[in-house]
Amino acid sequence: MDTQEIIDQEQQYILQTYVRPDFVLEKGEGVTLTDTEGKPYLDFVSGLSVNALGYGDKTVLDAMAAQAGKLIHVSNLYHTVPAPQLAKLLCKNSFADRVFFCNSGTESWEAALKFARKWGYKNFQDSPKNKLIALNNSFHGRTFGSISSTGQPKYHQGFGPMLPGISFADLNDLESVEKLVDAQTVAVMVEPLQAEGGIHLCDPSYLKGLRQLCDEMKMLLVFDEIQCGLGRTGTLFCYEHYGVVPDIMTLAKPLAGGLPIGATLMTQDVADAVEPGDHAATFGAHPVSCAVGIEVFKRLSDPSFLAEVKAAGDHLHARLNSLKDNSAGKIVEVRGQGLIAGALMNKIASGDLVSAFRDRGILVCVAGPEVVRFLPPLVVGKGDIDRVMDVFEEILATL
Ligand SMILES: Cc1ncc(COP(=O)(O)O)c(C=O)c1O
Repeated sequence: MDTQEIIDQEQQYILQTYVRPDFVLEKGEGVTLTDTEGKPYLDFVSGLSVNALGYGDKTVLDAMAAQAGKLIHVSNLYHTVPAPQLAKLLCKNSFADRVFFCNSGTESWEAALKFARKWGYKNFQDSPKNKLIALNNSFHGRTFGSISSTGQPKYHQGFGPMLPGISFADLNDLESVEKLVDAQTVAVMVEPLQAEGGIHLCDPSYLKGLRQLCDEMKMLLVFDEIQCGLGRTGTLFCYEHYGVVPDIMTLAKPLAGGLPIGATLMTQDVADAVEPGDHAATFGAHPVSCAVGIEVFKRLSDPSFLAEVKAAGDHLHARLNSLKDNSAGKIVEVRGQGLIAGALMNKIASGDLVSAFRDRGILVCVAGPEVVRFLPPLVVGKGDIDRVMDVFEEILATL
């Protein structure tokens, strides 16, 4: 089937929830994708923060084949080998004592919302706590709980009413959170690095203040590290930059090397509120995803791997900042940390930049209408970063 036929079929039979460019990706190797016409693309999207080890990684392929050869799926009614091992690795390397496994970011966030509310009912039975505070400009996924706690009205439009009991405060404005808290508030929920919302970092004093507020008011602090966690910012978890630990944290995207997975991590205190039957997922704790996850996690948590991510991230940010300084105001601000970076553009649509990069054989994406986002695989080399930055410079010269 030729490229146009594939695109025609997609447009005829697949629900049109995405507007895709007119090429078809067929295979990948390292940090390069190739389309059906044989054209290569240097990938600075990495499946939206999924393909941390790039494409064709031998550890991923071997782990997948070995587990698939043994057992692909049985129900969560039974014990299987890989899931407890991955859960142990996650707990031993984080604040957490327990893990719930599911299949995607939004599912792990739904689980976080349910566990937080269950904790509020179990521990405050006379007057249950069930109100949630989320942040304006946040993003937590596309299922109902997730859009209801996503602080961007565009994701709510046409789907109301949203889940009740959720209000929104501002990033880096502790007072705006304090104003919303009352005796019924059970949790404050934040991305330690707001990704889809335009690449915004938290102030350390803000996260520390939230932790203190949660402790004082007997509320849970919930972190969404689905995009910023697992090495992307140069530390295993983004919260490590702040010295602030959550009570619940969600992970997903890169954890299983490109296979579907979600994980909701929690303290024993939260786990104590959850009972058998409270939550479930048919494909959760999937043997193949978890078997690959074990190997991916070992790689991502290796200090020497993280040091390389940090060095590559420093290089990316140095190049972006120097481009900004010489851009005659076309780049207004460089945002992000490690290998998640955003360039805020001055009256230049980020979507147009994505097309300009694509025409030159490079894939980047947007974080809103004004921010072009760079999310390379974590194994990216400095030479590839230089190539993307040289092309960015060339594009800026044409604008
Ligand atoms: C911070 C954050 N939370 C949640 C999600 C939803 O994850 P998924 O698309 O796997 O449901 C995303 C996806 O981009 C995300 O970036």
